[in-house]
Amino acid sequence: MNDLDSLVDGAKAAFAQAATPAELENAKAVYLGKAGRITELMKGMAQLSVEEKKTRGAAINVAKQAVEAALQARRQALSDAELEQQLKAESLDVTLPGRRRQAGGLHPVSRTLERIEQIFASMGFDVADGPEIETDWHSFTSLNNPPNHPARSMQDTFYVDMKGADGIPFNLRPHTSPMQVRYAQQHVARHKAAVEAGGAMPEIRVIAPGRTYRVDSDATHSPMFHQCEGLWLGENVSFKDLKVVFTDFCRTFFESDDLVLRFRPSFFPFTEPSAEIDIQFQSGPLAGRWLEVAGSGQVHPNVVRNMGLDPERYIGFAFGMGPDRLTMLRYGVNDLRLFFDGDIRFLRQFQ
Ligand code: DAH
Repeated sequence: MNDLDSLVDGAKAAFAQAATPAELENAKAVYLGKAGRITELMKGMAQLSVEEKKTRGAAINVAKQAVEAALQARRQALSDAELEQQLKAESLDVTLPGRRRQAGGLHPVSRTLERIEQIFASMGFDVADGPEIETDWHSFTSLNNPPNHPARSMQDTFYVDMKGADGIPFNLRPHTSPMQVRYAQQHVARHKAAVEAGGAMPEIRVIAPGRTYRVDSDATHSPMFHQCEGLWLGENVSFKDLKVVFTDFCRTFFESDDLVLRFRPSFFPFTEPSAEIDIQFQSGPLAGRWLEVAGSGQVHPNVVRNMGLDPERYIGFAFGMGPDRLTMLRYGVNDLRLFFDGDIRFLRQFQ
């Protein structure tokens, strides 16, 4: 192998070793630069004869062209590799599964509320919504529970740093019972007009579900919870109707006729007489235990009067039940707080 051949081989090897365009430019300078090996060879021809210059010059040129070709080939290879790399980095795997839109679902307590509304609507009850921030009068006094009455401690709640027209701070309603009075008041004009026109007295038949608040927190109590109020007033509405309506409701709600009710004497300022409603399943995992689901009673004449209605003509019953409790019983959940922790792993099980 002559010196030119080994020079070309050396250049090829140096170019092949260059891993980046910058390294390649350095290697190029060694061979083709102003002070490079080929320039040196050209300079070295000065002492040769004219005849020798001709052949030597032609041979150096061939070698130079071979080095240049090798350089060009390496440049191309490096830029191809770079492109390849870039394409790989930006590549899109069209075989990957797409990102699915997460479908939301109803909270278990919302499901219960919807169920309650449907069942009572089918029995001719209106569904009403009311404020969670209440006046002292609506939450207590109108319900025959005057200021300083010890029965107020049954419903200890939170107060808002703002006073109503009566000078008493607003409260976060401790029960949905204020909706009895609010709803009746809204319908008093309609009732008066009907009576004055000599027509039949319209009835009041409503449920009012919603959020309520108390100073309470353990496995079966949360400071925020739900209640659903019920009210049925008319000329002839009795405890018998309460029993029929509530029994029917419970059996429909739990999808079981294998269930009995018990009315246990109790006290509420706004009803007289008053009763707690307990249910007992005759079969299944909860069989044999009495489970309290609602407070109830015949609406107290003072409350009927506060509604703007005549207690001599209007009589009926009211109840207040706990949809959270009903949800726990229906799904077999034993800690109420799970419903309000917002843990998606828990909530997803109800979808
Ligand atoms: N408001 C009562 C409570 O939260 C529940 C209640 C009892 C509601 C009797 C009623 C009723 O309408 O008649 O403890």
